[in-house]
Amino acid sequence: MTDETTAPTGVGRARQNEIYTEGIHGRRPRVPTDHAELERRAQRVMSKRAWAYIAGGAGEGATMTGNRAALDRWAIVPRVLRDVSSRSLQTELFGRTLPAPVLFSPVGAGALAAREADVHIGHAAAELGVPYIFSNQGSAPMERVAAEMDRVRPGAPRWFQLYWSTDDDLVDSLLARAEKMGADAVAVTLDTTMLGWRPQDLNIGSLPFARGEGIDQYTSDPRFTEIVADRVRAAVGERPEISLGAIKTLLSIARNSPGRLLKNLTAPEPRTAVQTFLDIYSRPSLNWDDIAGLRDRTSLPIVLKGVLHPDDARRAIDVGVDGIIVSNHGGRQVDGAIGSIDALAAIAPVVDGRMRVLVDSGIHTGADVFKALALGADAACIGRPHMYGLALAGADGARDVVANIIAELDLTLGLSGHTSVADITREALQQIS
Ligand code: FNR
Repeated sequence: MTDETTAPTGVGRARQNEIYTEGIHGRRPRVPTDHAELERRAQRVMSKRAWAYIAGGAGEGATMTGNRAALDRWAIVPRVLRDVSSRSLQTELFGRTLPAPVLFSPVGAGALAAREADVHIGHAAAELGVPYIFSNQGSAPMERVAAEMDRVRPGAPRWFQLYWSTDDDLVDSLLARAEKMGADAVAVTLDTTMLGWRPQDLNIGSLPFARGEGIDQYTSDPRFTEIVADRVRAAVGERPEISLGAIKTLLSIARNSPGRLLKNLTAPEPRTAVQTFLDIYSRPSLNWDDIAGLRDRTSLPIVLKGVLHPDDARRAIDVGVDGIIVSNHGGRQVDGAIGSIDALAAIAPVVDGRMRVLVDSGIHTGADVFKALALGADAACIGRPHMYGLALAGADGARDVVANIIAELDLTLGLSGHTSVADITREALQQIS
């Protein structure tokens, strides 16, 4: 028999042990281990603009509240006496065995919380060995983030999240870069063909991208550079001295020194880069034909992010994609939208194992991930919580927040009478009316 005080088995008990041992020496965890305190502390260290963008939601915030309410309507009903001494969180996703069914959601404009945010988050994800979905609105070029992840753990899992630009060549260029930097999958975000109505940002007139924050995947892209060069040439007249090389150099300065970009927003190149981004980053006309054609554009598994209706899930199967992320974008797009857990409960039985189903939006704890798995998700993605960890304690903070969620998942698994995430079914839950 295992001695509970000396030989923890599983990541949950290992994490508890680590924290309690530190506590004996008077050291507290770097980041709070509950979401409410994590959020409070993060707000204290973040600028007003950063807090508005990262914590904010659409409209009156009803979708964010709804995400939590949907989770609260499900209760875990633990079973006892089932020998849970040995447990496994291992999950297979697109040919990879992951240590836990958890991913880092793509979060754009992370520079608001920490300079080169994505590099730190990549570092954190690589330490844990769980996938990081790079945002198309990242604050560092994907190649730089991938290199950092490889430094920590060669081949650490990473995905790329695509916003479908109005420029198809840019889409192809981003996809080619994603393949080259070793992405396991591409997540195409469907719910943001336009930005939602976000009062927190609107009330202070703040859009990060308009200040050049979160456009690094673009300014580092050869096709984007070409578009900017064409526009600059058109704006200032065909002047031979404005070469493509000069514009590339200027964009690279802008990328490596965002402060200089801000100061130079009146100069033609950086200003044109920002304006070009705003003009082309997303395509409101996006439709199922585009998705059907995506197979010819990339060899990567395709995952559609932002699916909330069972009929759209059926259609996703019909067009032959490999998975969906049931998501309302953390309540940032449509106010009063269905909670992602309610959507999951309706979608998972329809999919019935025919493609992978992930979920995000309002997932804050290991118990939340457990409920998502019980309702049919293969894995859950974590958004704001890892950003709060990043704001509080850099890469270590982002890592610890997700490590805590995984630890609690492991404990919840065992304490509810299960030994493997694959064994969790809806039977483990009861719906509260
Ligand atoms: C996001 N999200 C997001 N999604 C995406 O596909 N591309 C992106 O660039 C972004 N950017 C972004 C910025 C910020 C500040 C937030 C909070 C969210 C949505 C994200 O991937 C995920 O769907 C939600 O964050 C999940 O909800 P929670 O975990 O934040 O409640």
